[in-house]
Amino acid sequence: MACGNYSRRVTTSSRDEVGELARAFESMARDLAAVDAERRRLVADVSHELRTPLAALQALLENLADGVTPADPETFETALAQTRRLGRLVTQLLDLSRLESGVVPLERRPTPLGPLLEQAVRETEASGRDVVLRSDVRPPELCAEVDPERLHQVLSNLLDNATRHSPAGGVVTVSALRSDGALRLAICDAGPGIADPDKERVFERFARADPARTGREGGSGLGLAIARWVVDLHGGVIRAEDADPPPGCCVVVELPDGRRREHA
Ligand SMILES: Nc1ncnc2c1ncn2[C@@H]1O[C@H](COP(=O)(O)OP(=O)(O)OP(=O)(O)O)[C@@H](O)[C@H]1O
Ligand SMILES: [Mg+2]
Repeated sequence: MACGNYSRRVTTSSRDEVGELARAFESMARDLAAVDAERRRLVADVSHELRTPLAALQALLENLADGVTPADPETFETALAQTRRLGRLVTQLLDLSRLESGVVPLERRPTPLGPLLEQAVRETEASGRDVVLRSDVRPPELCAEVDPERLHQVLSNLLDNATRHSPAGGVVTVSALRSDGALRLAICDAGPGIADPDKERVFERFARADPARTGREGGSGLGLAIARWVVDLHGGVIRAEDADPPPGCCVVVELPDGRRREHA
């Protein structure tokens, strides 16, 4: 075990201090083995995610160099899209690792939610998707003790998902209200929704409900993992629900609102 082989087992039946020590070692080795397996899985996932856009970019550039593909704006746009995808992936991975290691502490302050939601909506509208976005904050002066930067990150990720899965011309609503002493945010779309068996899994790193959609339109499966980390740090919960009425998906965020304050 001291040489790094955490699969070794310490078996003991003794009830004295040595037995206690052996059991402590056993439990430590099990934890280390789990961390080690998780680390390997993460490295494999990250490498795979980076390799996909890199391989596409390399093939494209090789074709350009060989003169097989013409150097026209469309080709450069494809290359640029792959580069953006790589950049976004690296940014998300850095965000996630900073969140997980606790390097970036939460900076909670009384935050009016109306302007925060409006800004996230405006930024999502700038992506130019054919979707109508509506925000509904009740009461309009609703205010909460949160980290505005981090909550904005959650909203951007959820709005990106909702608009990506929404049908053309569909409506996406983002709402915020106070209910039973908690702050409740909901981002709802009228897309295909998330099937029950996937509702929890989609919050894991690199998890996608539909693995076939990993091309240009699909993401890397990190947005919801980031959102869950931020919500956890706030002591809240996040879950995916069916839209009412179906079809569609509602992602609900509930944050404890102990120190709630109304803006004057
Ligand atoms: N509003 C939604 N409607 C239907 N499916 C969704 C919705 N939001 C998320 N999903 C499913 O959950 C998966 C995980 O979402 P997540 O935001 O973590 O990753 P992503 O959108 O694929 O990539 P990224 O956010 O990293 O660009 C998605 O791939 C999709 O299958
Ligand atoms: Mg996403």
